[in-house]
Amino acid sequence: MVSYKELGLVNTKELFQKAVKGGYAIPAFNFNNMEQMQAIIQAAVETKSPVILQVSSGARKYANQTLLRYMAQGAVEYAKELGFNVPVVLHLDHGDTFELCKSCIDFGFSSVMIDGSHHSYEKNVELTKQVVEYAHAHGVTVEGELGVLAGVEDEVSAEHHTYTQPEEVEDFVKKTGVDSLAISIGTSHGANKFKPEQCTRNADGVLVPPPLRFDILEEIEKRIPGFPIVLHGASSVPQDQVAIINQYGGKMVDAIGIPEEQLRKAAASAVCKINIDSDGRLAMTASVRETLATKPAEFDPRKYLGPARDSLKDLYKHKITDVLGSANKA
Ligand code: G3H
Ligand code: 13P
Ligand code: ZN
Repeated sequence: MVSYKELGLVNTKELFQKAVKGGYAIPAFNFNNMEQMQAIIQAAVETKSPVILQVSSGARKYANQTLLRYMAQGAVEYAKELGFNVPVVLHLDHGDTFELCKSCIDFGFSSVMIDGSHHSYEKNVELTKQVVEYAHAHGVTVEGELGVLAGVEDEVSAEHHTYTQPEEVEDFVKKTGVDSLAISIGTSHGANKFKPEQCTRNADGVLVPPPLRFDILEEIEKRIPGFPIVLHGASSVPQDQVAIINQYGGKMVDAIGIPEEQLRKAAASAVCKINIDSDGRLAMTASVRETLATKPAEFDPRKYLGPARDSLKDLYKHKITDVLGSANKA
């Protein structure tokens, strides 16, 4: 058993309080390998932003729980070495059982999500409460979820989303004691968030997806004023990256994300954590495909993973500075 405090990590409590007051959101970037971790920390240090290193259960299996613990500890030391001691959170993304959350807490995570959104309301409350009790006894913060996002949430996939019902949030927060709440207002996981037929075209012929349900968000904020809200499925699916992937042999069809101005608007509200995974996957894949296609004799992994890491860092710096507004908040 190791406490996150020994690893130099922080929980989300203070970060979220400041973010809600300051009208910005903390970036939660998913990671499972060294290059992603380096890119996230480089971007956070260069922009002086707090950052959440986020690990799904699939990522934990992929990377190994022990290695992840040392990588997170290494991330904190790496930030210091780069010249700025940014606050770093190690967070479990979409935990689905008490046992998984407990295991992550025992392995040094400073924050966990228990996603009981696929259960009945009563079961979600019961499971979330159980995780909160164990987590809080160890100083670890907990994210719960109400409402279901369309797309794949780790190994669970939902065909349609169910928007969060504002009339449930107050009771859920009170009964469970969660520190933050993920909601469903029209985002979804992955790179195909909308079907083209759900979108309209602007004057340049670019597909514009339906707007997020800010009316639901406002209703939620009214019922739990100042309470930290989390937005999942917040990748924007940059079309230039999709074009590079397809130019160099990829096949991404109808890839559509959330426009960045909508995320900027959300970040200025009680939304204080924004989850981004797919955009990082796109940036890395585009870069690797381009290098391998344009330099076919290259076989040193550093020669294609290095540029991919740089591209990732640029993407994260852009998100922090131009979308989430968390630059200089460390
Ligand atoms: O919410 C889903 C995240 O993008 C994690 O995806 O389960 O494939 O690691 P993953
Ligand atoms: P994206 O697939 O939109 O990046 O969402 C990631 C996410 O919500 C992780 O929990
Ligand atoms: Zn998610």
